[in-house]
Amino acid sequence: MAEEPVDESARAPGAGSKVVAGNWKMNHGPAAAERFFARFSPAVEEGAVRLVFFTPDLSLAAAADGARVPAEFGVQNIHWEGSGALTGETSAEMAREAGAALTLIGHSERRHIFGETDAEVGRKVRAAVRAGLAPVVCVGELLEERRAGRLEEVLRRQVGAFAGSLAGARAAMVAYEPVWAIGTGETATPEDAAEAHGIVRSALGRRVRVPVLYGGSVKPGNAVALMSAPDVDGVLVGGASLDPDVFARIAEAGAVAGPGGG
Ligand code: PGA
Repeated sequence: MAEEPVDESARAPGAGSKVVAGNWKMNHGPAAAERFFARFSPAVEEGAVRLVFFTPDLSLAAAADGARVPAEFGVQNIHWEGSGALTGETSAEMAREAGAALTLIGHSERRHIFGETDAEVGRKVRAAVRAGLAPVVCVGELLEERRAGRLEEVLRRQVGAFAGSLAGARAAMVAYEPVWAIGTGETATPEDAAEAHGIVRSALGRRVRVPVLYGGSVKPGNAVALMSAPDVDGVLVGGASLDPDVFARIAEAGAVAGPGGG
């Protein structure tokens, strides 16, 4: 029997609108998370975009309790095992129990600083789906790969490592984050983003319809143009998600850019 295609429709607050996701990385402990939301919550319009926060594990509860706006919360990494002698790791089941609805997987810092492979990304995606945690899987090329004309090959390889597992997921997203644009101030043009997103969608295949986000030096000044590009359903924001006023302006940009997709 054919499986149902993944369809994100109408599940989350702000569903049908752009996704504006913050990746706090190793920033904002519990007290800072509370301070963030005390300022952020009154500054955003409820439901205008689908807000997602990837907090440090230890700040998840403080963030979820402190948010006065509808938002979803996730962790930044999981291990593929459910439990065991794996010091320092967190399983998908534990993340869920602690209140996470989503998890980033395969962020470029995980791939390039911690040496995570495509095969490990695939295992993590399967573990997340099994545990009912929505995987938000990151892909993206290095500058030398782009310069060598290998954009499509790299994205197809990275997406190929997990696309099959998404067919059974209740919810998922993919984030295209060119490695050369992360934390560098260099941003892909809306045309670059549209091209890469087209490749990602084609590599995912027609049965996996999930939002595809752009990430890499997104700021209030470029967010509307990026989110208005074809096939861009939202943004994944690192540095600019740490300041509540700046991130609220990016959320506003998402509302201006209009409905999402996926
Ligand atoms: P940046 O990070 O917005 O600071 O470039 C994006 C990311 O790493 O998700």
